[in-house]
Amino acid sequence: MKIPNYKDARKRSKEEVLIRNFSLDNQYLDLGKNKKFFLKTYGCQMNEHDSENIKGMLNMMQFTETDEMEEADLILLNTCSIRENAHNKAFGMLGRIKHLKETNPNIVVGLCGCMAQEEGVISEILQKYRFLNFVFGTHNLDDLPKLVDEGLKGSKLNIDVLSVEGDIVETMPVTRDSKYKAYINIIYGCDKFCTYCIVPYTRGKQRSRLKEDILKEVEELIQEGYQEITLLGQNVNAYGKDLYKDYELADLLLDISKLNIPRIRFITSHPWDFTDKLVNVIKENDNILNYVHLPVQSGSNKILKLMGRRYTKESYKELFDKLKSIPNISITTDIIVGFPGETEEDFQDTLDIVNYCKYDSAFTFIYSPRENTPASKLEDNVTLEEKEQRLYRLNELVNKYSKEANTRILNKVENVLVEGESTKEGNLFGYTETNKLVNFPGDKSLIGKILKVKIIDAKSFSLDGEIVE
Ligand code: 5AD
Ligand code: SF4
Repeated sequence: MKIPNYKDARKRSKEEVLIRNFSLDNQYLDLGKNKKFFLKTYGCQMNEHDSENIKGMLNMMQFTETDEMEEADLILLNTCSIRENAHNKAFGMLGRIKHLKETNPNIVVGLCGCMAQEEGVISEILQKYRFLNFVFGTHNLDDLPKLVDEGLKGSKLNIDVLSVEGDIVETMPVTRDSKYKAYINIIYGCDKFCTYCIVPYTRGKQRSRLKEDILKEVEELIQEGYQEITLLGQNVNAYGKDLYKDYELADLLLDISKLNIPRIRFITSHPWDFTDKLVNVIKENDNILNYVHLPVQSGSNKILKLMGRRYTKESYKELFDKLKSIPNISITTDIIVGFPGETEEDFQDTLDIVNYCKYDSAFTFIYSPRENTPASKLEDNVTLEEKEQRLYRLNELVNKYSKEANTRILNKVENVLVEGESTKEGNLFGYTETNKLVNFPGDKSLIGKILKVKIIDAKSFSLDGEIVE
């Protein structure tokens, strides 16, 4: 058993990051023959992409995927720790799985992802969820084949979680969810340590992939016909800082841009590391999409300081204005309400910055204390009722601006990457360059193409359109 601990998870050293290559031991090659797996993923795109690697490994072992948990031989939960409700969902699911396992003890059950990295979660599992066969963390995804093998042989609760700063594993197999859009990790972990956030503890230290490895992956995706790539990282703007002297995200984007993939996105940006060079690279290159997700979290300087965000509302607005000089750019954000100590006045500052930025859309959250983070030790003096009220008021404002942003492109022609059939018969759906969802009539042979679509109706959360060419 390897149990995670908060103390080691917090460590950051100057030690070099080890890069190792994945390889599947021959003995596991047909482990999944005639067997099905069910995988449930919670959380962010990073976790979704980890799940694509998990599926890649399982497919390599000849498992096939099922959407029906009841018919699976192997059940895996890839979990998220970001807020309490993500925890509750995963624990709720474990309750259901426990019943299944009572009727069929041969099912192998595993849990992985960010929750696995939490000391508190592991002790809860040890007390209440001993029926699990194995638990592994974000640092050793590649141990899955071995754990599945042991599980199929009847292993009892094997906890295999490392609290380390982290390596980089290359050449992982991958089964991607889309044939047109792909995620690519460019940087793992996070060293920002915002006081409310659990990610630096669950995902380890900030470590960039070698540019050669990233460019090679992009080239392969282009060969396979991918139209869009999204570069992933908890803080993509820090790309390269741990590896190179003179090579940052802007340089990587430029190099990828030259490879001629139609669409390049990147998420998530921390306002702290956003350089002028990056603003210019977005402005000057057509295939780097005019879309930036720029979490503000709060509009109050007092709260930003308590959050450890390293910028002020003034410097955020300055960056925002620079980005807005890019024609037709869409900027979205994340906002937390009800952080400890947030007064009505602080909340007004948040409403003010939303009124200033008029975001195309925003993800809004009630602050959720995460075990062992510095903010969780602050006195939480905002009542739940007050937090809910603030969230409601904020959402009203955010939705008003989303609708306005959608209305601004009414009657305009947008490039839309068609992703699939929508629920309405005879209709397709896709996303504009600025990541807006569009539904429009069309034949399914058009899926995977980038089309010109005229926007004919704007709602708060989606658009209707018609194909122009
Ligand atoms: N409580 C509420 N929201 C949080 N986020 C991160 N940590 C917390 C927390 N403890 C939000 C932030 C972040 C997004 C991914 O989740 O807004 O940008
Ligand atoms: Fe959730 Fe953060 Fe982990 Fe993503 S990195 S799965 S958002 S806790």
